[in-house]
Parts: sequence; C-alpha cells; structure tokens
Amino acid sequence: MMDFVLRLLFSLLLLISLFSGRGSAGGVYNHHHQQLRHRFRPTKLFVFGDSYADTGNILFPISPGMQFPYGITFPGKPIGRFSDGRVLTDFAARHVGLKSPIPFSVRNRVGLRRFKETGVNFAFGGTGVFDTEYPLPNMTTQIDFFQHLRQGDSILTNTDAQSSVALVSASGNDYSFYFAMNTSRQGLKPFIISVVNQIMVNLKRIGGLGVKKIAVTGLGPLGCFPVFTAPSSYKQCNESINSLVQFHNFLLKEGVKKLNQETKHSSKVFIVDVYGAFMSIIQGRKRYNNGEFKTPLKPCCYGVGSGFSCGSVDGEGKQMFVLCEDRKAAFFWDSVHPTQQGWAAAFAAFKSFRNHF
Ligand SMILES: *[C@@H]1O[C@H](CO)[C@@H](O)[C@H](O)[C@H]1NC(C)=O
Ligand SMILES: *[C@@H]1O[C@H](CO)[C@@H](O)[C@H](O)[C@H]1NC(C)=O
Ligand SMILES: *[C@@H]1O[C@H](CO)[C@@H](O)[C@H](O)[C@H]1NC(C)=O
Repeated sequence: MMDFVLRLLFSLLLLISLFSGRGSAGGVYNHHHQQLRHRFRPTKLFVFGDSYADTGNILFPISPGMQFPYGITFPGKPIGRFSDGRVLTDFAARHVGLKSPIPFSVRNRVGLRRFKETGVNFAFGGTGVFDTEYPLPNMTTQIDFFQHLRQGDSILTNTDAQSSVALVSASGNDYSFYFAMNTSRQGLKPFIISVVNQIMVNLKRIGGLGVKKIAVTGLGPLGCFPVFTAPSSYKQCNESINSLVQFHNFLLKEGVKKLNQETKHSSKVFIVDVYGAFMSIIQGRKRYNNGEFKTPLKPCCYGVGSGFSCGSVDGEGKQMFVLCEDRKAAFFWDSVHPTQQGWAAAFAAFKSFRNHF
C-alpha cells in the first residue's frame, strides 16, 4: 500500500513539474527585487519554528540540547542548541548584520526590553505547525507570543516589525509525529497538504503583524538523514522518503507564489531551499572553504546500542554514544541535525536568503 501511495505521489510530482516548467511569472518580481535588494537592512530578526532555529528556548535538563556534547564547539557547553555549535538562526542573523536574537524563554531573566535590541527567537526544538511534543508551543502559539509583544505589551512597535525579517523553520517534526501516532499511509498525502496549508496560514499571520520579509525553510532531504540511512551504514538515501519531501516542497512553493501575489504590497515571502543545499553538499557538488565532508551521510555523534542516541547516558551515567574526532569534517551532527560546519556550508548555498539582503 505504501508503494502504491508513493507511486501515486511520484506520478503527481512528475505531472506537476511538467506544468511548472513553463511560463515563469517570476521575471517581473525578480526585476522588482533587484531594485530593493540593497536598500533593506533589517534591524531585527524574529524566528519561529523548531530545532533548526532554536538557540536555547528549551531549558529542561532532559532536552538533548542541554546535554553534553551538544554545544561543545560553540559556546563550549550545552545551552539548548541542537548541534555542536551555531545553528541556522545564528548564520541568518550574522548574514543580515545582527546579533543572534535572544530566546523568548529567557525573558524573565533579561527583561522584555532586550527584545528591542535584535529581535526574538520563538523557536522550540521538537515542535511543528501542529501539536507534537506537549507542552512545547506549536508555531501558532509561537506567533501568539509575538502578537502579544506587538499588541499586548506593546514592546514591539510597527516600526520594529516593518524593519524586521522573520525566519520560519518547519523541518518535519509534524511528520515524525504523524508516523509515531498513525501508521496509515493513506492519510499521508492529505496530511502533507494540511501541514503546508497551516504553514501558509502562519506566514500570512506573521506578514499581517507587519513583518516585511519572511524566509521560510523547505524540507531537507529527510531520506538522507542519518536516522534513515543508518540501516545502510550511512551509504544510501531513502528515495521514497525524499519523494514525499519533494511533494511537500512543491506545495510550499505553489503556496508561497500564491501568497506573494495576494500580498504584493505588504510582505514578501521567500523559500530557503534546504533540500537543494543539503543535497549539493551530500553529493559533493558543493565544497566549503576548500574542505569537504568526507562521509557526508555519517553523523559525528551517534548512540551505541538500541535506544541510545547522541548525548545518552545509561543508568550508571556511562556515555552511550560515539563522538567523532574532527567535527569540522562532519556534515551531520546527530541523527537529524547538521554540525556548525554543516550549517555554515548549507548557508553558503542558500542563494535566496543571501540575495535578499
Ligand atoms: C496550537 O496549540 C494551541 C495551544 O495548545 C492549540 O489550542 C491549537 O489548536 C494548536 N494549533 C494547531 C494548528 O495545532
Ligand atoms: C489515521 O489516519 C487515518 C486516515 O487519515 C484517519 O482516518 C485516522 O483517524 C487516523 N488515526 C489516528 C489515531 O489519528
Ligand atoms: C524507506 O523508508 C520506508 C518508510 O520508512 C521504508 O518502508 C522502506 O523500506 C525504506 N526503503 C529503503 C530502501 O530503505
């Protein structure tokens, strides 16, 4: 049955790509953007989403991001980032000339006024657009937090919003949750459609709150992630999973195109092509700083024995994971997250993001 659905999706994909190859309405927009390109200098970054973007919102000791060896490269200890060091948000902030925004969770410690400096990071690892891991806030709730700072606390003014950029990271937790809860493959396609529809609702809301530019991530090639390539000793991507990913990414692209036509004069959304960037690195088409990732599918840190993962310890406190020697030579940090070096390489390949600022 799985096969049938996959084949169906795949033929749909082919069909769709035949159509979308023609008639590019994009030219007009591109021209428009050339003119705007060097004028927009955001003063704040607002971040929504999951572990690709979280820089320390989950401070529970049981969160992987709070366990050794997470954070070992930067800042040198685990503080809630899901990597050995910097993540997507940090690279995005640096690219637009801002300090990485402060995690929303530390507001009581630092005070709300600090959010006026370089923005706020509302992203929580493990979350999706729908509910995943209770009690972590889904993306709707993250946007509620933002709305409250805008309209309730009035900490963030219209000017703050208009001179800001938003980064929205939706990397697939909705799907892990779906597979964990519901093995029905028939329900998968409608579910993908509903996930993308909800992403569109969220993007519209963020634009409606005054943010002029919004970067949204597409899905990465999940079928190439260590969690799925472990059975082949990190040698082979799972193509059927990747074709589902491409279906999601196709719907996202169509949705964003439509949204941009509707909101021509207020906000502009663009997609960060995580799939293309990760694939170019994994397939060795893209080198970074003259270096390369020698075994790009193999994670730097992984559990030994079943049930253990990067950062796991057993009942006696013994480490139940392997940590690689050269973190800079690994693209993947753990079963689903890139290393800091991996993010640096991927960010260098995010043309859409780089071209917008
Ligand atoms: C997000 O979480 C809130 C609070 O738990 C819930 O009421 C809402 O239905 C959720 N939204 C979505 C789209 O799942
Ligand atoms: C699983 O998905 C099917 C098809 O969409 C749906 O009918 C069913 O209610 C779902 N089951 C659960 C437990 O969510
Ligand atoms: C790919 O993943 C699917 C879903 O998890 C699984 O059923 C299938 O066996 C995998 N294919 C390969 C070639 O590993």
